[in-house]
Amino acid sequence: MFGRSKRPVEQLRSYRYFGPDDLRSFGHRSRQKQSGFGTEEFEGKPVIGILNTWNDLISCHAHFKQRVEEVKRGVWQAGGFPVEVPVMGLSETFMKPTSMYYRNFLAMEAEEVLRTYPIDAAVLMGGCDKTTPALLMGALSANVPSIFMPGGPMNKTSWRGDSLGSGSDVWKYWAERGAGRLGCEEWCQLEDHIAASPGHCMTMGTASTMTSLAEAMGMALPGSASVPATHSSHSRMASSTGRQAVELAWYNVTPTEIMTADAFDNAVTTLMSIGGSTNAIVHLMAMAGRAQVPLPLERFDELSQTTPVIGNIRPAGKYVMGDFFDAGGLRGLLARISDLLKLDAPNVAGTTLGEAIAGAEVYDDDVIRIRTNPICEKNSLAVLRGNLCPDGAVIKPAAAESQLHSHRGPAVVFKNYPDLKARIHDPALALTKDHIVVLQNAGPLGAPGIPEWGMLPIPNYLLEQGVRDMVRISDARMSGTSYGACVLHVAPESFVGGPLAFVQNGDMITLDVENRTLQLEVSDDELTARRAAWTAPKNRFTRGYGKLYFEETTQANVGCDFRFLHADGSQDPDPSIH
Ligand code: FES
Repeated sequence: MFGRSKRPVEQLRSYRYFGPDDLRSFGHRSRQKQSGFGTEEFEGKPVIGILNTWNDLISCHAHFKQRVEEVKRGVWQAGGFPVEVPVMGLSETFMKPTSMYYRNFLAMEAEEVLRTYPIDAAVLMGGCDKTTPALLMGALSANVPSIFMPGGPMNKTSWRGDSLGSGSDVWKYWAERGAGRLGCEEWCQLEDHIAASPGHCMTMGTASTMTSLAEAMGMALPGSASVPATHSSHSRMASSTGRQAVELAWYNVTPTEIMTADAFDNAVTTLMSIGGSTNAIVHLMAMAGRAQVPLPLERFDELSQTTPVIGNIRPAGKYVMGDFFDAGGLRGLLARISDLLKLDAPNVAGTTLGEAIAGAEVYDDDVIRIRTNPICEKNSLAVLRGNLCPDGAVIKPAAAESQLHSHRGPAVVFKNYPDLKARIHDPALALTKDHIVVLQNAGPLGAPGIPEWGMLPIPNYLLEQGVRDMVRISDARMSGTSYGACVLHVAPESFVGGPLAFVQNGDMITLDVENRTLQLEVSDDELTARRAAWTAPKNRFTRGYGKLYFEETTQANVGCDFRFLHADGSQDPDPSIH
């Protein structure tokens, strides 16, 4: 398997802890026995660390208490020794200012947990948005054999006969409420129905996007990412994942062997074909930085121009993840774009991507479109350049009204999110559908944490007139379940003096998706004068994680990772060797 021999037990990392006849190993063995395990239960077996991102505030992972037992079952079956290691659960819903602020925190925790403990291979249990990239980033840096277990999307659900999609329909019905077409009672009914089971958001938001990319990259078992969280297949997949982790330990298959340049290309192509979340761009670049794989922003644009969107899933399409699973899931979709993929890329199952998708069928051509009938032929995501975003910005044309792909209009500027909340619905602003709404100070440092504020609200009085989309520009991100002509990830961000900081009310801005430009119609001399009059804001943190975050976080165009975590640490001493 994996084209190599199984390694002897003496080469396992855990053997350093449990194997030798010395004082320290005595301590390790005796303390394992303190937990109730006999020598025969752990001696000579690979130790499989199960990094579990469960906690009571991460409702998307409510089933992880049961799943972890099923992973353990698989590990025992395959002759391994399972140990559960709880790590920080990044709850998209509850963490403030944003779970993104803590993505690197979990990545560091995962890396160091894998490095310090006697772990020969890891099962990474994630799903809710940032958990997936964080765990994979940590596994890449530790480079301990690892397999990702996708948490699975929550159940399909409906309200008054209409299918509901996580996030997407919240925004949709909130707009209806703003327009005065939805009352309190209906809004409360939606609250009861929108999240109907454990599992992550069931649209093609960031969670479904990132778990799909983990599978496409080869880090999760083929077919695993599309399985709904409460389906019995999900339990069986958890056990299979545990069993496969034991194989990865014996054959010492490391994340950097799987997450190669070809794997990243496969991830980007998959991202485009599923109409996935803009957030994936930031996460993939951060992961590529850990893997030492060059992945410039332009690579996303290149592949978006040759990849059709064939996943008809919200917010870019019509269906939800449960429909996608029934229609054949990710394997079925990838089989339809196999000519665009690097099929020789290896995976954690010990096969190639080509072998993993061979024979995959599609059972519903509306959910997973045929190539001659795509949702759109190209441009799922587009990378913009111009004097307003010298280091790039991102838009999701597939989820925006097409007449806004080319638009020129006057800016209305909000200095920060509280300013936006306070004034956006004020009729005195007298905005029209042609205005361009600009939000400053919502980026990696300005917010901080580059929150998902990028789908800036449309004024209620315009909603009442039937307006449902406008051009909106910010240095924030946008939820993967959101939609609209939202220009995101503007870099450099306004907080550090990017040109976005100098936009003023009434400045004309031109967005041209076809030509990939975002231009502020202000002369260089005027921009220079505005910059000279600008006072750089101060770091608001003097200690703790906030200080570290402010000093080390990179801009969105390179992934918002910590600078010092990009470095190749392969020469660093392994603290587990003592
Ligand atoms: Fe967890 Fe959406 S809130 S995935």
